[in-house]
Amino acid sequence: MTITVTPLEEGFGAEISGIDLSRPLDGEDRRAVYQAFLDSRLIVFRDQDMSPDNAIDAARILGNDLEPHLFKHFHHPDTPLIMVLSNRVNGDGQPKGMKDAGTFWHSDVSYKPNPAKATFLYAREVPDEGGDTLFCDLTAAYDAMPGDMQDRLHGLIAMHDYNHVPRDIFSKLDVTPPPPCPQPVVRTHPETGRKAIYINPGYTTHIEGLEADESADLIKDIFRHCLQDRFRMRYNWRAGDVVAWDNAATMHSATTKNLDPAKHRTIWRLTVSGGPAF
Ligand SMILES: [Fe+2]
Repeated sequence: MTITVTPLEEGFGAEISGIDLSRPLDGEDRRAVYQAFLDSRLIVFRDQDMSPDNAIDAARILGNDLEPHLFKHFHHPDTPLIMVLSNRVNGDGQPKGMKDAGTFWHSDVSYKPNPAKATFLYAREVPDEGGDTLFCDLTAAYDAMPGDMQDRLHGLIAMHDYNHVPRDIFSKLDVTPPPPCPQPVVRTHPETGRKAIYINPGYTTHIEGLEADESADLIKDIFRHCLQDRFRMRYNWRAGDVVAWDNAATMHSATTKNLDPAKHRTIWRLTVSGGPAF
């Protein structure tokens, strides 16, 4: 097979064509996909048709260790390594998947000491409109910051907490939220060595060692900078799409809150484990 890597027209990321993820890939193809993931921070494959095992094998191109999501209720019936994001309900009214997963800017699992390295989504069905995913390139945002701002942020530590954006899902599902955890405000990528902003509106509560006002103002300034249009893009899903991104270099937001319940959206999510961000 001949792999082609084409930068997406809008924003950042790259589309990889010439790959059928339902078939075993040789070492050369796997290395090419991995390099595109590192270079582009977000990769897209179109027109895929995968079984759960295929999806697990494909996600492992980005890292061998996959982790189940802490919400067991939404695991795929065949494997805990796939979490089902869906607005479908069973005949008895029970949800077939998690309906609203992260409709706020965040980097996956930044609220734990070992955050997710990569997230791999595979769209099984999508509505003709609505349900886009928004992405923000935090490496480009860091690079474009004035030097004095970069200097100010180096060495700062921020606290991340899953419960920062209020949500009642833990009590509903009888899951205990993890305790808050510290993360660097500027994260150096473990493989590329590039620096990126590593705070996000969804999970970051405050910056350590600053007065509350000062911390809040600084966080606001950082997000105002990062969330400029030039660092962002909106991904419009088609059925069969796979999108995988580097959580050390990007943040994202779902837009499923206002999705028409008559329009169905079902996406499989797999999470590639990562090491500490420090
Ligand atoms: Fe997420």
